[in-house]
Amino acid sequence: MSRRKLVAGNWKMHGTSADLGEVRGIAEAARRLDGQVDVALCVPATLIHRAAEGVPGFAIGAQDIHMADKGAHTGDICAAMLHDAGARLTIVGHSERRDAHREDDTTVRAKAEAALRSGLKVILCVGESDAERDAGRALEVVTAQLRASLPSEGATAVNFAVAYEPIWAIGTGKVPVTHDIAEMHAALRATLVEALGEEGAGVRLLYGGSVKASNAAEIFAVEDVDGALVGGASLTAADFVPIVEAAAA
Ligand code: 13P
Repeated sequence: MSRRKLVAGNWKMHGTSADLGEVRGIAEAARRLDGQVDVALCVPATLIHRAAEGVPGFAIGAQDIHMADKGAHTGDICAAMLHDAGARLTIVGHSERRDAHREDDTTVRAKAEAALRSGLKVILCVGESDAERDAGRALEVVTAQLRASLPSEGATAVNFAVAYEPIWAIGTGKVPVTHDIAEMHAALRATLVEALGEEGAGVRLLYGGSVKASNAAEIFAVEDVDGALVGGASLTAADFVPIVEAAAA
């Protein structure tokens, strides 16, 4: 099945109004390559509104949401608020949140469901630690994570994507060999088809972890890699646009 690639940037805790020019540069490239590749940028919550206003039609996203629709949750942000600010998608289950905020699969699933309920698209992250890979348990751990954090309803090929991000590859410059990426993506594809049937064949499977212009083409050529979730190299148009172009090629 042919799936158009999706390249999403995750700015993490980087970016202020001084960086809105980078958002414009990235959105401009996305417009130029419209129809060849889908592009999205998940900025800090404080920038969503200004970023979205500055680049109409371009997909600005959030990096996390609260699982409840509203309520007494000091400091948290719900899906409707993100939608209202101009977000069109959100990441859920990033390993930095699973780790630092103790988010388990049940929480991640509830967050994905809350996002889909409010009309936000979802990028759901999964990935193993280096200890789990060394123990030969990567496939087992990551497919179990996907099964347990997959929304119980509402996920389609249009509104839902999965990002495989090995924790040991994030921000380290280390990337799995292409054989390991292919093996993991095949296992995740099988899990998606088992859970979602036909629809699971169309869900995009992104790779994330130290993706750069220099390795993007090789990663995008791997079977069942339908795009990338990019951290550090998404912070500037100069670094990110060549990755987007590699996906469009
Ligand atoms: P880096 O691209 O900086 O390794 O980060 C990957 C990531 O965590 C994207 O969500």
